[in-house]
Amino acid sequence: MTPVLTVSELSVQIAGSRILHGVGFEVAATGVTALLGRNGVGKTTTVRSVLGLLPDGGRVTGGRIVFDGRDITREATHRIVCGGIGYAPEDRGVFAHLTVAENLALAERPGSAHHYDLVHDLFPELHTRRHQRAGTLSGGQQQMVAIGRTLLNDNRLIIVDEPTKGLAPRVVTEVAEVLERAAERVPLLLVEQNLAVVRRLAHDAVVLDAGHVVHTGGAQELLADRELATALLGVASRTAPGAA
Ligand SMILES: Nc1ncnc2c1ncn2[C@@H]1O[C@H](COP(=O)(O)OP(=O)(O)O)[C@@H](O)[C@H]1O
Ligand SMILES: [Mg+2]
Repeated sequence: MTPVLTVSELSVQIAGSRILHGVGFEVAATGVTALLGRNGVGKTTTVRSVLGLLPDGGRVTGGRIVFDGRDITREATHRIVCGGIGYAPEDRGVFAHLTVAENLALAERPGSAHHYDLVHDLFPELHTRRHQRAGTLSGGQQQMVAIGRTLLNDNRLIIVDEPTKGLAPRVVTEVAEVLERAAERVPLLLVEQNLAVVRRLAHDAVVLDAGHVVHTGGAQELLADRELATALLGVASRTAPGAA
């Protein structure tokens, strides 16, 4: 099957520093591809490059990003998003002073169907709390808003950056459950440090280190190889907290 996303030889500079050095990987058209690696290796920079969302002073200096058969390298973010990529950023990007319903309404993309039934089926709380200001939600509930927004529109790929970071173990399990259900409908590129979540969800794994891809292959095989997982990720997978 043709991958939904192909990144080749991607190099990125931010404020004069080279952050990514020829990163290449594919995201399968079904299931979950995990983007892994220690803090600061370039995971967020990689996904922000895909979305055309590099910070000021950041630019793609080489390589190609092909989404759904189309070259989107250096394309404007709104065009990339309208092409069908949903994004739940690392900081969740929820509007604290708006209600849950307003956060979802703002995410409605013109020209797309708006799947409120699906979102409310996956996240009943987003319906019961629809009049609540998002800033008063728990971290896990805010993450549900961020993921819910990506499922509202017709997307062909969803990118979620560290959705379980800082969440209590029980909430980590809830987030993993909804991501699992989401992945039944649309392929996911998941940046995740919680290896129990990776084990539960991911089919493929891409590991970054210092702006280079240092491993690609099956996620389950990687996690089953304790020595390799420890060498690449710096933590034995069975010791990961928040077992999902
Ligand atoms: N806005 C920025 N300005 C300068 N350096 C940045 C900026 N954003 C990220 N970096 C640097 O790029 C590297 C990769 O960061 P990032 O992609 O956020 O890593 P990860 O998501 O894997 O933790 C880090 O060394 C970080 O300091
Ligand atoms: Mg990051």
